[in-house]
Amino acid sequence: MPEDFFHQKRPPAEVKHAILGEYLSVFVGKVGSSSVGGRVAYVDGFAGPGVYDDEAPGSPLVAANVGTLLSRSRQLRGFLVEEKAAHAQALREALTGAGHDDWEVWEQRAEDALPGILEQVGSDPLLVFLDPHGLAVPFDMLVRRVMARSEITEVLLYFTQTGIARLAGLLEPEWLREARQDRQAVVRARGEAELARLEAARRGGLQYLDDFLGGGWWRQLVADAQPSWKEDVRNEYIRRVAEAAGPGWRHFLTPVPDRWEGPARYELILFTRHAHGRWAFNNATAQAFRRLYERHWTQPGAMPTLFSEGQGIPDPRPDFIAKIKGNVTDALAEGRTGFQVANHLDLLLGEELLGRAGASEIRQALQQLHAWLEQNVGVRGADSGS
Ligand SMILES: C[S@@+](CC[C@H](N)C(=O)[O-])C[C@H]1O[C@@H](n2cnc3c(N)ncnc32)[C@H](O)[C@@H]1O
Repeated sequence: MPEDFFHQKRPPAEVKHAILGEYLSVFVGKVGSSSVGGRVAYVDGFAGPGVYDDEAPGSPLVAANVGTLLSRSRQLRGFLVEEKAAHAQALREALTGAGHDDWEVWEQRAEDALPGILEQVGSDPLLVFLDPHGLAVPFDMLVRRVMARSEITEVLLYFTQTGIARLAGLLEPEWLREARQDRQAVVRARGEAELARLEAARRGGLQYLDDFLGGGWWRQLVADAQPSWKEDVRNEYIRRVAEAAGPGWRHFLTPVPDRWEGPARYELILFTRHAHGRWAFNNATAQAFRRLYERHWTQPGAMPTLFSEGQGIPDPRPDFIAKIKGNVTDALAEGRTGFQVANHLDLLLGEELLGRAGASEIRQALQQLHAWLEQNVGVRGADSGS
């Protein structure tokens, strides 16, 4: 992790925290309505120090604040894991300062802490947030422990294609190619100790990647060298996680950019078994972007953020609504007659609007279409829910 990671909250972290806060509120509100004592558990496996140097809240405080907001009817229990002693200590202080002493800090590696935490969580519904700077917990821990729970469980996972590519580069580094041709020449140039260190680091890095991805299957995709190999590794990882975790798992992926309409810095993937989990997460993501957009739109001069360079960018929502109307009209033209809106996100939004447009834009698009149909074709009584 770069040394300055926690100096100032950077745009991708703002997006990530906005999404986390939005979704956790919805999750706790929903699943806590039927859980014992309104209890819901939340695990942050890579918690960090809790606050950035500029005092912006990190993910543990974002989550703890959700707990406070819902505390009249829900009890959100927090389990925060941080392996670095200095970060764990800073985290305890940040929690105390914010009045969240009851949130537990586990000063351990996430993969070591998770079994004990799962025991304490018992049968309460659970959201696990895994937000390392590199790779999250090993595949087996994720699917055979966390996602193997029979109770309500969801996982929000940070996925980095860049991190994967960096580690995959260890398959055939320059020094290895040279050493295969003439090992003695490399020893003379670098020294025996340095070569041994490189070899050990290579073995360790590749093992780390194998453990995370659940085997060495990814090597073939790297060797095939298709331009899309990083996305292919990600897609195959998601497929394998969902398959190994058992029936009913679905996912929602949202790219996290570092500027307005910029490329993804990393991706957040939600794994859920709930039929409407994708719908709820899409709304949370759209809402997070909307809030960030509005906050920075109306406050020029706020700290440099994803949206500060977008002071002149027009509100994207009318365009979202027009595109949704186009998607629905295309579907109707293809002979679709009626469908449950919540089950057809991909059809309504298309790849472009997933995670950006939510229920509000979908509702407006359907209302406008309905009004048009009423006026022009005389259709009555259409229900915007189906
Ligand atoms: C990207 S930061 C977390 C940021 C935090 N989630 C936030 O949004 O404010 C990753 C943190 O995970 C910690 N870490 C790294 N490897 C870990 C592991 N295996 N288990 C637990 N913590 C780990 C690092 O020390 C660092 O503080």
